[in-house]
Amino acid sequence: MKLKWLAGLSLAVGVGGLGLWLSTAPHAVAQETAAKKPLVEFTKDGKVKQPVGYRKWVFIGSPVTPNDMNDGEASFPEFHNTYMDPESFAYVEEHGEYRDGTVIVKELTAVGSKEESSGNGYFQGEFTGLEISIRDSKRYPDEPGNWAYFSFGHKYPLKEMAAKNGAASCNSCHENNATNFVFSDVYPVLKDALKKAKKK
Ligand code: HEC
Repeated sequence: MKLKWLAGLSLAVGVGGLGLWLSTAPHAVAQETAAKKPLVEFTKDGKVKQPVGYRKWVFIGSPVTPNDMNDGEASFPEFHNTYMDPESFAYVEEHGEYRDGTVIVKELTAVGSKEESSGNGYFQGEFTGLEISIRDSKRYPDEPGNWAYFSFGHKYPLKEMAAKNGAASCNSCHENNATNFVFSDVYPVLKDALKKAKKK
């Protein structure tokens, strides 16, 4: 009699647990689908809108070309905080190359103070500019390596939209001086991912 009661109880707990699982599972799926937005948005005439949310992407490194080491005006002033979209970064980790659809964002900030309580140095100041590169073989079949380059400017307020730059103004320097168009040697996070992927 007592055993029968226990069996009934465990069945009830089991069904209750299932109910709880059923009520939470679809919710989790819905959240995942909602997060799937395109990485960048294009206008009808092929311009790119300023990307959003990239500060939550994978931060790959921050080269700095301070104005005071570049005759007072660096071509790309001054810190370059650089991010890659997470799925493309995961692809790099797995395959050691840049997938179709890769987006890299370079967000510029000025040098702020040169002295903090930790010592003398170059510390980041205000945001100053934004540039991105996109690899897409369908959209950019004629660009070398299928990489297209966009600049929203080096001074705030930035442009809301940017047209693709000609290959001569951006792509050619990347093609000739970087490895596979990306300056991976100056981004320790990306460099390490590429190195580890090759060992797989
Ligand atoms: C004279 C060479 C040169 C030219 C021209 C050039 N870049 Fe770059 N770019 C670099 C170097 C070097 C880096 C990495 C080091 C740094 O940030 O200073 C870089 C990094 C980048 C990155 C980060 C991802 C990567 O590929 O390393 C983006 C995005 C980028 N440049 C966009 C542009 C855009 C947009 C233009 C054209 C308006 C442009 N670049 C023109 C040399 C160049």
